[in-house]
Amino acid sequence: MELWVGWLLLLCCHMFFFHFSFSHSLCHSHDKIALLQFIGSVETSPTIHAECSYMDPKTTWKNETDCCSWVGVTCHPISGRVIGLDVSCSGLGIFDAILPNSTFFYLSHLQSLNLAFNNFNFQLSSLFGGFVSLTHLNLSYCIFEGEIPSQISQLSKLESLDLSYNFWLRWKESSWKKFLQNATFLKELILDDVDMTQISMRPLNQSTSLVSLSLSNTEIRGNLNNSILCLPKLEHLHLSYISYNLNGQHLPSLSCSAASLTILDLSYNYFEGSIPVSFSNFTHLTVLDLSHNIYLNGSIPSSLLTFPSLTFLDLGFNQFSGQIPNVFPQSNNFEKLDLSHNNVEGELPSTLSNLQHLILLDLSMNKLSGQISLSILNLQYLVFLDLSHNRLEGPLPNKITSLSNLTQLYFKDNLLNETIPTWCLSLPSLLKLDLSYNQFTGHISVMVSQSFEFLYLCNNKLQGNIPQSIFTLVNLRQLCLSSNNFSGFHNINYNFPRLERLYLSSLGLTEFPKLAGKVPMLRDLDLSNNKLNGTVPEWLHEMDSLYFLNLSQNLLTTPMKQFSRNYNLQFLDLSFNLLTGDISSSICNVSSLNVLLLSHNKLVGVIPPCLANLTFLSMLDLQRNKLNGTLPSNFSMNGSLRVINLNDNQLKGILPKSLSNCAKLEILNLANNQIEDKFPEWLQTLPRLTILVLRANKLYGCIPSLKMKRGFSSLLIFDISSNYFNGSIPKAYIQNFLAMKNVIRYKVDELYMQPSNNASVYEFATVIEFANVTTKAINMAFKKIPKSFIIIDLSRNKFEGEVPYVIGELHGLKALNFSHNRLSGPIPQSIGNLTNLESLDLSSNMFLGRIPTELTNLNFLEVLNLSYNHLVGEIPQGKQFNTFENNSYIGNSGLCGFPLSKNCNNTEQQSPSSPSFWREERFEFGWEAVVIGYGCGTIFGIGLGIFVLFIGKPEWLVKMVGGGLRKKIRRR
Ligand SMILES: *[C@@H]1O[C@H](CO)[C@@H](O)[C@H](O)[C@H]1NC(C)=O
Ligand SMILES: *[C@@H]1O[C@H](CO)[C@@H](O)[C@H](O)[C@H]1NC(C)=O
Ligand SMILES: *[C@@H]1O[C@H](CO)[C@@H](O)[C@H](O)[C@H]1NC(C)=O
Repeated sequence: MELWVGWLLLLCCHMFFFHFSFSHSLCHSHDKIALLQFIGSVETSPTIHAECSYMDPKTTWKNETDCCSWVGVTCHPISGRVIGLDVSCSGLGIFDAILPNSTFFYLSHLQSLNLAFNNFNFQLSSLFGGFVSLTHLNLSYCIFEGEIPSQISQLSKLESLDLSYNFWLRWKESSWKKFLQNATFLKELILDDVDMTQISMRPLNQSTSLVSLSLSNTEIRGNLNNSILCLPKLEHLHLSYISYNLNGQHLPSLSCSAASLTILDLSYNYFEGSIPVSFSNFTHLTVLDLSHNIYLNGSIPSSLLTFPSLTFLDLGFNQFSGQIPNVFPQSNNFEKLDLSHNNVEGELPSTLSNLQHLILLDLSMNKLSGQISLSILNLQYLVFLDLSHNRLEGPLPNKITSLSNLTQLYFKDNLLNETIPTWCLSLPSLLKLDLSYNQFTGHISVMVSQSFEFLYLCNNKLQGNIPQSIFTLVNLRQLCLSSNNFSGFHNINYNFPRLERLYLSSLGLTEFPKLAGKVPMLRDLDLSNNKLNGTVPEWLHEMDSLYFLNLSQNLLTTPMKQFSRNYNLQFLDLSFNLLTGDISSSICNVSSLNVLLLSHNKLVGVIPPCLANLTFLSMLDLQRNKLNGTLPSNFSMNGSLRVINLNDNQLKGILPKSLSNCAKLEILNLANNQIEDKFPEWLQTLPRLTILVLRANKLYGCIPSLKMKRGFSSLLIFDISSNYFNGSIPKAYIQNFLAMKNVIRYKVDELYMQPSNNASVYEFATVIEFANVTTKAINMAFKKIPKSFIIIDLSRNKFEGEVPYVIGELHGLKALNFSHNRLSGPIPQSIGNLTNLESLDLSSNMFLGRIPTELTNLNFLEVLNLSYNHLVGEIPQGKQFNTFENNSYIGNSGLCGFPLSKNCNNTEQQSPSSPSFWREERFEFGWEAVVIGYGCGTIFGIGLGIFVLFIGKPEWLVKMVGGGLRKKIRRR
């Protein structure tokens, strides 16, 4: 954009020069006629592009006047031929092609042509190749489509070509090569968002005149090789979002000793490995962006931090580790430094205090430790400071002398302690402050700066009365005080004309805050985990602005039907209260409901049938109540349901077939009810069904065969235990469980992430990182289930026959339970292929033969129960098998060897039979206990996360480097 603007300026200068020095030259009549006919053939309408100031040429292009005086027209001073035409931002809409016979193409003397920001919804005409005098051509944002005509290679004088943001424009390899061969004067080539999937980068090696090259989001093919990085005149190189092809590549080493680049943007590309040593040759860099490559690792090279001209360095969202080199030079030009979302550790380098021009510093989401020293807080131009999600400790400095420009300060989720210093709450420009999730103590007694929009003090150990001044901040939009030891809430006088989010959870509140009429804009209210009892006050039901209401974990007995008046609510959480009575069907008046959580109450009666066709309801959790009657029978086709948890109630009757209408369903838990039906094989039509739990009901019969090729292929948890199923184990299902065949390697304690609803944008963003990395099993609404939790539980039924050999293909399985059935035949050797298995229970069946030695391959096996079968022979030895005890094997009179006392050389000793089945119990209760701990919010989280990734950082950050970075828009 920068160059483009520059070129525009140049053009203006030309116009100025020509018009005032040679104003006697008159427009050539051919060109005038051509222009008039052209403009007469197009429609103009005000454009909506933010970057445009609209100018309708028709207002000045008049037959009566000299065309050299028209806006956007430049003439040759002597011949009067039109040599420059700028009709950008003119709202030109041509809905047929510029026809081949259009007079527009008669303007054969044009040297510069700018049609940017108009709406030409058609193919780029090959006649553009006729403008052979062109040196500058800008067709960006024109909605051209189709192939770029090969005639473009005739423009051999081009110095600047901008075709960016024509999403449907496509290069062909042959045209691309010819174009680059002929364009020997080309200095600027801007093709962002043009489709280059068929094009290779290689021909660019010859473009030695290039000064600026921008190919972001083009998906151009080939390796980024160092001959491009070393093009002798290249100063600006933008290659972000070409990940599709760079995936897995290492950054190239430089072959040149001093690259001329000043701007290098390789962000969003999935490069891996470390930064090559030769990058220290980029001594002219002012902007370096390697962010969002996710896999870049190794340490941060000192040389990057000492480039004399560097103003902007972004290495965020990678895996850099080690310490931040403490080498920032005394004299430097840093304005933005972003090392966020890496694994850097150690203390904040003391030389950070040399960065006296710094405007933005983001070191969040790392492992930094030690104290935040005074010197770092003395950066006078700092506007944005984020040190959240580190391990910084100790008190904050008491007094600071600077930070008068700071508008955003984030210290969230560290180990900071002692009192919050006065300056923190009274910085003159501060708008957003997040000190949540630390260990701050003491009282807050200061006057808070009136400009605050966002104040997060939650999850600390603050105490005492909060100053009244906080409750009347006129600009405040978000306030979080949750989880502290504050007192005196009953006296507070709230007055928040702009407040949108208020979090007062876990504060021991015994009465509702008096918000009636004081918070006209409030959207989110969290009063969870307090001691609120009785009914919800009237005013709360009258707040039309409210979208999100969390009253869970209180002592409320309030009748459900009251909430029918909160008709704008999208999220309602009343779980873990003392609600009694029934769920009135009037709740369906809240037609906007997205999430309804009423679990863990004492609700009785039937589930209102209307809940099954609330259009927006995506999560319905009524588990652990006393609901009876049958399931609703009318689940709608247009529904949004993703999670249905009705387990642990007293539901009877059959499984409604209309459940198969819930095409978005991911989780269905109906455990511990009294449902009496056959197996719902018709659920196989649900493509996203990931968790199916039907345990402990009265389901019966065989499992019918599958009709669909991909039926149940997304399942990760399949639990139909404790029913009356019989027949053989359904081999076809096991073959179809595709998602269980994938082994996705996660870090040890990676969980299905659930950002709390007051999480920062970074947490939301993290959720998306997961979504990109994993293919399936991602949008799970579970907080505490590890992501690799893959389970089959068919225990306590009447299954008979042999276990299908294909079971050995479900490589992702963590737990397999076939116990308490009537299974027979040998234990399939293929179970030895399930190398991720942690728990295997085949007990209380009729398995025959020896224990396959292949089972010793199960290196993660912690629980093994083969007891009460007809197994014989020697127990395999070695590895995990050395850790199992007698009760893994008891009730198999033919087994011998360790750990049994019966030796295999026929010297029998009676093995002591143990009454304890602790291993079995541990297995059986294992996963359910975790599942109960789920919360909600993931759905929102993911939505917001995508939003954050798309929008990126605030506009001012992007602009800060003077247009050095282009706006990032993802095409796919
Ligand atoms: C412009 O004016 C000339 C002479 O004044 C006339 O011949 C011509 O038809 C006009 N053209 C248009 C497009 O009105
Ligand atoms: C251009 O050709 C189209 C048909 O191809 C015709 O309708 C139109 O009148 C022609 N315009 C001129 C200026 O000749
Ligand atoms: C290269 O440019 C020259 C001069 O404009 C032109 O004559 C020639 O056809 C072009 N070559 C190609 C392959 O287009």
